Formats: sequence, structure tokens, C-alpha cells
Amino acid sequence: MKKFTKVLSTVVAAALMAVTFTACGDSSSTTEGKNGTIKFGTNAEFTPFEYVVSKGVIGEFDGIDMAIAKQIGDDNNKDVKIENMEFDSLLVALENGKVDAVIAGMTVTDERKEKVDFSDSYYNAKQVMIVKEDSSISKASDMADKKIVVIQGYTGEVCVKDLGYSYQSFKKGTEAIMELVNGKCDVVVIDSVTAEKYVKDNKGLKIVEDNKQFENEEYAIAVKKGNKDLLDEINKSIKKMKEDGKINEFAAKYSDVTDSGSSSESK
Ligand code: ARG
Repeated sequence: MKKFTKVLSTVVAAALMAVTFTACGDSSSTTEGKNGTIKFGTNAEFTPFEYVVSKGVIGEFDGIDMAIAKQIGDDNNKDVKIENMEFDSLLVALENGKVDAVIAGMTVTDERKEKVDFSDSYYNAKQVMIVKEDSSISKASDMADKKIVVIQGYTGEVCVKDLGYSYQSFKKGTEAIMELVNGKCDVVVIDSVTAEKYVKDNKGLKIVEDNKQFENEEYAIAVKKGNKDLLDEINKSIKKMKEDGKINEFAAKYSDVTDSGSSSESK
């Protein structure tokens, strides 16, 4: 029995030490004078919202969302860190506590709302179709017998699935666009602002809209269910960025598009 107590106390001591070390580790990784760190998860395959460059606004990460994340950090006197991962893994990482928040041009959906809490929205978008310039597709139903490509886990995939059409999915938008450019598919369904960027960067493509079929989507930041403190900090900062025009400014800077599509409160 005595031995057991001793072993137990050693284990407790070790555990305490581990806790202390973790706490030390955390604070030492924070820049002096800061109130902590917000770890944002993203999938940096979604220009102009998040992509990798040699020197971005947060480390190697750049784009509208990254500028917004940085501003949220600044507004709350916190450091920000980016964890780049597959889009499909983001909400799981949030639930597991691997990240504190997700900023990834993520559309608020009822299905996602069951798993996580969303901030106020900071951007409006919708699904569009990218086709070759000479394509006969002019509305969503024209895709019925066409080769459709979507990105895995994006709302575009959900839209095409709901239409009941068969499709192929890729992990990255760039892969999907290459299929289209190389004539291996007829249409890519993806978010409007990202589509504009692809069409600008690749000759011979155009965007087809179908506003009857594809509804408005709102981008927001996700936090773990019940993390009200962080959600409040994020919402306060978003409100400020809408009011002082920062979001429009970031949108213009990163997309060369003057109308950011952010909601009317920003005007
Ligand atoms: N808005 C779409 C969605 O929420 C696509 C987002 C893709 N974002 C990204 N960072 N890859 O499903």
C-alpha cells in the first residue's frame, strides 16, 4: 500500500510538472505583452481568401481571410497562428481543440451549425459555374448530362448532389480548373469570388451564374460549440471591420474587385 501511494504521488507530480511545462510553453510562444494566441484553422487553397505565398500577412499565408484573422488578433491583443489542413478536416480539428477557430471562406449551413458555432457573417458569395468560353451551358439544369467537377466537401458539392447530377470531386480548386482547361470536364461548380480569380488567371474560361438555382451564401468564422468568449471577441472585431471599411479594403486588395460582396451593414 505504501509503495502504491509513492508511485501514485510520483505520477501526480509528473502530471503536475507536465501541466506546468505546457503552461510555460504556451506563454513563451506568445509575443511579450500579448494576451495569448488564437489558433486559426484554414485550408489555404482558396484564393483570394487564403493561399500560400513566400511572405504573407501571417507567415506564409495571405488573402482576405488571413488579413481578417490578423486584425482579429490585433483587436484583441492576441497573437494569431495558422494551421493549414484539408478543408474536410477543419471542423473536426475545431471539435478536437486542435484549433480555436476556423476561417476558410466557410459558408454557414444548417448541417455545419449542428457541429460548431458561427460568428456573424463577414462576406457574401454564391455558387457559380465555370465553363469554357464556347460552352452551351447557360443555367444549372444544362449541367444534367455534362461532366461536372466539384471540390470535395465544399458547398458546391452539396448543391450538385442536391440537383441529383453525377459528378467527380477533387481536393483542390486548382486541380478542378486544370481538368476544365484540359477539356476533361465541362463545368466546375465553385464559389463566385474564387471563380472570378480562376477565370482571370486562365484564358478561355467564363463564369455562368444561375441565381435561381444557387442561393446567396454567407461566410463566417466557426468556433467550438459554446466558446462564447472567443465568439464575442471575433464578432466585435468583425463588426468594427464592417463599419470602418476594413473588410472592403482587404477584398479590394486581394481580389482586385472593388465590390467585396460584404453585406450592406458595411456601407
Ligand atoms: N464556401 C465553400 C464552403 O464553405 C467553400 C469554402 C472553401 N474554402 C477553403 N478555404 N478551401 O464549403
